[in-house]
Amino acid sequence: MFITNRMKQLFYDIFKEYPTDIYSAAGRVNLIGEHIDYCGGQVLPAALSLKCTVAVRKNGTNFMRIAATTIDDRVEIDLENTQNYKNLAWGNYQAGVADEMKKAGYKLIGCDILYDCTVPFGSGLSSSAAIEVVTAYTLAKLGGNKIDKVELAVISQRAENNYCGVNCGIMDQFASANGKKNYAVLLNCSNLDYVYVPLDLQNYVLVLANCNKPHNLRESKYNERRSEVEKTLEILQTKIKAENLSQVSVESVEKYKDLLGERLYRRAKHVTSECERVKKSVEALQSGNLERFGRLMYESHYSLKNDYEVTGKELDALVEGAEMQEGCIGSRMTGAGFGGCTVSIVKKNKIADFIKNVGEHYKSVIGYDASFYIADIEDGIID
Ligand code: GLA
Repeated sequence: MFITNRMKQLFYDIFKEYPTDIYSAAGRVNLIGEHIDYCGGQVLPAALSLKCTVAVRKNGTNFMRIAATTIDDRVEIDLENTQNYKNLAWGNYQAGVADEMKKAGYKLIGCDILYDCTVPFGSGLSSSAAIEVVTAYTLAKLGGNKIDKVELAVISQRAENNYCGVNCGIMDQFASANGKKNYAVLLNCSNLDYVYVPLDLQNYVLVLANCNKPHNLRESKYNERRSEVEKTLEILQTKIKAENLSQVSVESVEKYKDLLGERLYRRAKHVTSECERVKKSVEALQSGNLERFGRLMYESHYSLKNDYEVTGKELDALVEGAEMQEGCIGSRMTGAGFGGCTVSIVKKNKIADFIKNVGEHYKSVIGYDASFYIADIEDGIID
């Protein structure tokens, strides 16, 4: 990648030296396969052109010094003592990555890093995964280590799980590291096998709508949902053989409905039906049937709303608004939910109407504005 004059100058103003390298890792949109990565399911995310970019230089110390273009805090992380930064609001992801990389045997080198993130924070587009993955990539590169993007994604996920207190699955970090321009990644989360699925949107585009209600996974019901599906699996395992919930059929969930009780039944119903929708979506995309894919997106949203209960009135208002628009063939929340973004498939010549009408609908229901972006699908890591 080319280091822009802006990044060079900003870096110099902070660190009094010029950067030597620049890398970026992507935010992601998940097209379908929501809340099933931690159940061993298959998911279908893609890397966005919204990125976390870093300019960097080795600084000859044992410290990783970090700064950001949009945050005033400057943080120094002692690479000998990476455990001490868990409570930082800014810098904890980076410290967590350094910590996990040390545990995994990577050689780390002191460096100065300036972060420039165009993935909106708290938007559900995985700004945290982009920060983690670009940090892991940078530290691996500077230390002269072997680069394995799958392993960097796993290390980044561990940082989030072990250091930052979010029990997330692997999807976001994986897409951020391994995404490919104009392809979605069909990732099997039980063994990390993956294939790229061409994303030919014909005369449609993906429109992201940010409900501007920030979400914070640590404080949301994300971890609660994870415990619920773990409990569900334990109960089902007393009756059937399954290593994870994605191996359970929709029929088995119906059969053991009473055993599970109303709430866990609905959680299981979402997971198993969503696994089916991913398979059908891949078929639809591969056969160029975008309308079918769009219908599956709506079904996914309503399953997340009614059975998994992770949408909230803001995301629901965006999907309702989208559904009313001519030229929109599919829409759903993307990511963890509880706030963040929806993704919709919109005809190119209807984009302006879509943004205006959905924006107005949202404001009339919720009382403040949503923001809209056209999603371009890009490579995950750019070196
Ligand atoms: C968040 C997590 C992912 C995944 C999604 C829901 O983005 O980080 O691992 O569980 O929520 O699909």
